[in-house]
Amino acid sequence: MTTVNTGNTESPNPLRELSAESLRAHAAETLARARGRSAALTDAVDDDDLVRQHSKLMSPLVWDLAHIGSQEELWLVRDVGGREPLRPDIDDLYDAFQHPRADRPALPLLGPAEARAYVGQVRAKAFDVLERAPLEGRRLTDAAFAFGMIAQHEQQHDETMLATHQLRRGEPVLHAPDPPPRRAGRLPAEVVVPAGAFLMGTSVEPWALDNERPAHEVHVDAFAIDTVPVTNGEFADFVEAGGYAEPRWWTVAGWDYRSRHDITAPRFWRRKPGGWRRTRFGVDEPVPADEPVVHVSFYEAEAYAAWVGRRLPTEAEWEKAARYDPATGRSTRFPWGDDEPRPEHANLGQRHLRPAVVGAYPDGASPLGVHQLIGDVWEWTSSDFTAYPGFSAFPYREYSEVFFGSDHKVLRGGSFGTDAVAIRGTFRNWDYPIRRQIFSGFRCARDLPAAGPGRR
Ligand code: AVJ
Ligand code: FE
Repeated sequence: MTTVNTGNTESPNPLRELSAESLRAHAAETLARARGRSAALTDAVDDDDLVRQHSKLMSPLVWDLAHIGSQEELWLVRDVGGREPLRPDIDDLYDAFQHPRADRPALPLLGPAEARAYVGQVRAKAFDVLERAPLEGRRLTDAAFAFGMIAQHEQQHDETMLATHQLRRGEPVLHAPDPPPRRAGRLPAEVVVPAGAFLMGTSVEPWALDNERPAHEVHVDAFAIDTVPVTNGEFADFVEAGGYAEPRWWTVAGWDYRSRHDITAPRFWRRKPGGWRRTRFGVDEPVPADEPVVHVSFYEAEAYAAWVGRRLPTEAEWEKAARYDPATGRSTRFPWGDDEPRPEHANLGQRHLRPAVVGAYPDGASPLGVHQLIGDVWEWTSSDFTAYPGFSAFPYREYSEVFFGSDHKVLRGGSFGTDAVAIRGTFRNWDYPIRRQIFSGFRCARDLPAAGPGRR
């Protein structure tokens, strides 16, 4: 992978064209949508449930709620607004770097009523700041960036709270209609992405976070990528074939992890006489064969890919498949083009509480014909989470920079639990390769023989 310059371009973002008044309205609406979701996720359970730790991997829901308020106070009220702190005494409690998740229940946290009152007070001040702050002249407020960043932060924690709900035991408390059925006709198994440079990352997307920047040319060799994510039915074949008992499909690190935790199937699956079953937000149900597999670790994804004689795509391959339009040489904002996601494009925003079956979103396919890159399940890539050339941390090192290195693998595309404000063709998520309580799946890729000289 080398950086070259072929003059490829990226699509502009329509936010840039908005008047200050429309931009403020857009930011307010985006923050309000996030708050509606945070309220729904926390109002769904009683106080006892809110303060309890449902898994060592997760915070109590009430921690996430007050942490959302604390970050909003820090960036919108104090920094952008220059206002007096509301609760300087709790900064430390809600600093994710001071206390690992496992220790958070033992902290003197705000109780449910206090946490709700606190986030409400912060929001009232933040809206006041939004009405008055100049939206130019300072990088933090240019195109309302800080407001977009805080809306994304809240939505990211909402997705984390949704993962906590999935780990919670007891009767179902969340409800949503099922996603749409298959609407695509027959699809080829894979799509060829031609060799060449494309523009990766962004320098123009106003609410893109620091790790997505700057745009840079990347050469990608020709490769083939699955048209749709790997399904439960396909993954069950790997399980039935003894894939979890066969070290040859696993890397050394993957096999070590599998063995130490005695993992034998995706998280939340149970083998029953009638076939595989799973628990999904408190509902016991058969594992649906045509949905993308979810709740697999990077190591399981890697092992499955080896078993089918394929591999995971690199992050650059994933983004080229998602954004590169061969007709124009342009990198678009989304696979379907530059429009903001609509319900017919992708399964996002917790509108549904599960991935849609493969083939459900033909309107969201890329120009090359790759489906469901956005929404449904986060997709593991083979790449470590590293800085793009020219990266600079903004506005704080702890968002991305402290995580760069070989400990974390990149996931792309968002899940059914990701809001539209927190996903785009350039958006980068990351996690440890052992993690599977997140809404993670994958698709496979493979090398193609290089076209030699004279064979063009
Ligand atoms: C980008 C999802 C890995 O939740 O750990 C939330 C986002 N950063 N608060 C996370 C984040 C600070 C982050 N991920
Ligand atoms: Fe956070």
